[in-house]
Amino acid sequence: MIAASIPSKVTVGGHAVRLARTATLYHAPAHINGLRLVCAAAQSHAAPRYFSTTSRTQLRDFFPKRETVHIQTTPAAWPHHGYTMEEMKAVVPAHRKPEGLVDWAAWKVVRMARFWMDLATGMQRSQQVDKKNPTTAVAAEKPLTEAQWLIRFVFLESIAGVPGMVGGMLRHLNSLRRMKRDNGWIETLLEESYNERMHLLTFMKMCEPGWFMKTMIIIAQGVFFNAMFATYLVAPKVTHRFVGYLEEEAVHTYTRAIKEIEDGSLPKWSDPDFQIPDIAVQYWKMPEGHRTMKDLIMYIRADEAVHRGVNHTLSNLNQNEDPNPFVSDFKDRETPKPALKSAGYERSEVI
Ligand SMILES: [Fe+2]
Ligand SMILES: [Fe+2]
Repeated sequence: MIAASIPSKVTVGGHAVRLARTATLYHAPAHINGLRLVCAAAQSHAAPRYFSTTSRTQLRDFFPKRETVHIQTTPAAWPHHGYTMEEMKAVVPAHRKPEGLVDWAAWKVVRMARFWMDLATGMQRSQQVDKKNPTTAVAAEKPLTEAQWLIRFVFLESIAGVPGMVGGMLRHLNSLRRMKRDNGWIETLLEESYNERMHLLTFMKMCEPGWFMKTMIIIAQGVFFNAMFATYLVAPKVTHRFVGYLEEEAVHTYTRAIKEIEDGSLPKWSDPDFQIPDIAVQYWKMPEGHRTMKDLIMYIRADEAVHRGVNHTLSNLNQNEDPNPFVSDFKDRETPKPALKSAGYERSEVI
């Protein structure tokens, strides 16, 4: 339905500012197992921008641009390094075979988390992929809906931004406390959490979770942050392995979503009128003509593949002494790229 709209104005610092919410094709809130989402099916970038007046289906702008007297723009603090189309297309779901009991336990915890995620998003049996290859198989009898995908994306991304921040913070404190160099790990870990937050902010421009989902996100963050904090203090290698497995699931999730868009199973997202949020276009510097929902998910999937390769590699290294290979200059070759190294680099390959 096309929502009727009127301009909405606020005055900030003496300037009349129109809240930057787009005239949008909105869809009624989707309810899945008590999780409510108000989803935008399509955005039009045509100026001027309006709020929908339809109360039940109105999509509030979570973080409208803050207009001030002096500041024009606040660009992303960590500019994205970008990908070529070939790099993005080459990303595939993959699984690193657990070596030893600890790896196996880390993988099982991730599998259990996915089980609950599937349950929470109301995934039916016919919507599930081959149980024998859960991290690599992407074909299912029945596709998920756009609302089911968004719930999954939002929940996943709100969690995914935690480990990098915890790891980076603890290594930072360790460096201060022991008065020793960190050798390049901190920035990669913090940048990972920043990147995950950009994923979340992008999806937050497309949907608004209901109170139940917001509560679940708060509880999950409390539990997950403390679990990560304790585990990283005691066993950082295991934590990086765990994150590597978590990122395998993220690559799987986005690959399946891309497939379902390609198959025409997600019509709202393949609608030619659907426009992705400006924040995404700016952050990934998405070129003109490559700004569809599928393109956006391909960028995000490539990011997840980077996290997968980085964390599996970091888990293979000596946590106290080894430099971070992904920010190092090498004597005999180029700096390794983690996106296509799904199982990570072994220590002997990079140190
Ligand atoms: Fe992510
Ligand atoms: Fe990730």
